[in-house]
Amino acid sequence: MAKREVYTDYFYDENVYDFHDGGYVPLVMPNVPEKKLLIPEVLQPDRVQGDEIWYTIVAQKGETAILPGLKTKTWGYGMSILGKTVILEDGKHYHVHIVNNLDEITTLHWHGLNIPGPITDGGPHAPIYPGGSRDIEFTLHQEGAQTDWMHAHPCPNTARQVWNGLAAFVIVTDEQARTLPLPQTYGVDDIPLVLQDRTYHNNQLDYHKDYDVDGTLGRYPLINGTINGVFHVTTPKLRLRLLNGANRREFRLHFADNRPFTQIASDCGFLDPVIDLTKLMLTPAERAEVVVNFSDCQPGERVVLMSDDTPLVNFDIGNFSPNKQPIADHLVTIPQWQADTDGQLQTTVMSGMDENVRLDGQLFDMTRIDRQQQLGKTVDWDVKNTNNPDGGMIHPFHMHGCHFQVISRNGHAPYPNETGFKDTIGVNSGETVRIRVRFDVLGVFMYHCHILEHEDTGMMAQIKIFDPQNPQNYHLKSMTEIMNHYPSKKE
Ligand code: C2O
Ligand code: CU
Ligand code: CU
Repeated sequence: MAKREVYTDYFYDENVYDFHDGGYVPLVMPNVPEKKLLIPEVLQPDRVQGDEIWYTIVAQKGETAILPGLKTKTWGYGMSILGKTVILEDGKHYHVHIVNNLDEITTLHWHGLNIPGPITDGGPHAPIYPGGSRDIEFTLHQEGAQTDWMHAHPCPNTARQVWNGLAAFVIVTDEQARTLPLPQTYGVDDIPLVLQDRTYHNNQLDYHKDYDVDGTLGRYPLINGTINGVFHVTTPKLRLRLLNGANRREFRLHFADNRPFTQIASDCGFLDPVIDLTKLMLTPAERAEVVVNFSDCQPGERVVLMSDDTPLVNFDIGNFSPNKQPIADHLVTIPQWQADTDGQLQTTVMSGMDENVRLDGQLFDMTRIDRQQQLGKTVDWDVKNTNNPDGGMIHPFHMHGCHFQVISRNGHAPYPNETGFKDTIGVNSGETVRIRVRFDVLGVFMYHCHILEHEDTGMMAQIKIFDPQNPQNYHLKSMTEIMNHYPSKKE
């Protein structure tokens, strides 16, 4: 195998980094004792019968020891913060019972899963009332193994509910992924890392106090619900499933010793070819899987994952025999989609900042269908960010219910780590990113900026996926209608 180039920049234009924003809150590591990094346990099914699997997920309140002293009141899925990791297998049929033990309406969105909208997908049209529950079922057909996530998505309270803790990993696996020579023992050499940031007031979260209309930033890093966490490395190679789960912050990741690592996957599956990097930037909701090799380290050594100059997680090196075998260039072959000739180029525009953010010049309306696309057609979309390149911001564009391929950035080749399927893409100020989009499930789906405060302000729209052979009608309720129709008796 020829030696691969090691990329040493973030690819993005430096002018649009979030720290050029007037309201930027620097990320700092507080002086607190280290503690074991939380690795969420795997959610166990209630029942398995052949290819049918039943799960229960409970949105609940709890208390988490984050800082020394008082515990922090937080929310989670079956845990006090974040949630148990759901591991799904492509091709299986799932039944999920979702319970809301909070005092307000929530929804549970499966970010990255191609499952029908708007109800199963879990956007704002699928409310779960306090004390109530919702049952969904779906057969999973993804384009391949991937790291997805689930989070609350009620309109316009997504940002606050996620800030309080409602976000968890969803890992999709399949036969092919299991045969690849990659670390894949969950919690041992294959670990999820959700990157977030929070500010505390007397050890408590106060979303309203910290609110910023351009995206709420936290002062301290919170990685897997842990500050100053330590992970004990017991294998030469470690696979990190990185998720930017922050409301607004971009994470610019690198190791303190600048060691290179291999990015093997992006949002919705493997890259082809994989790439070696020393720096990786993730905008909100983007994911990356990377493999880090610690074979050159001595037992007792510490390697620190950083964002800019701030430490995020400490990796303490244990005893293991080195394995310098590099990751193969090609793990999988990715089909190169062709745009359907009868599909018309779509253009969508993200504009404005603060309360002036708009998607295609409009604010979100839950009862309005903004555009349509035919089931199974592959259509090119130009996603534009019209912010001024000096002083504007990156808007991470996300679509529910589908995957896309990145075709170009301002007419140039996409970044070298954009060869895989994605569902979220950072679009720089003044940039047009062309993506190739295909929906394989029917429904009404959201597409929006994934800065959660922009989404809650209304930088969001809806697309209806139709099949001329199988016309469907959707009754779309507004959030006011949903709020006014609390079930008379709790289930
Ligand atoms: Cu993470 Cu509307 O989604
Ligand atoms: Cu989503
Ligand atoms: Cu935005």
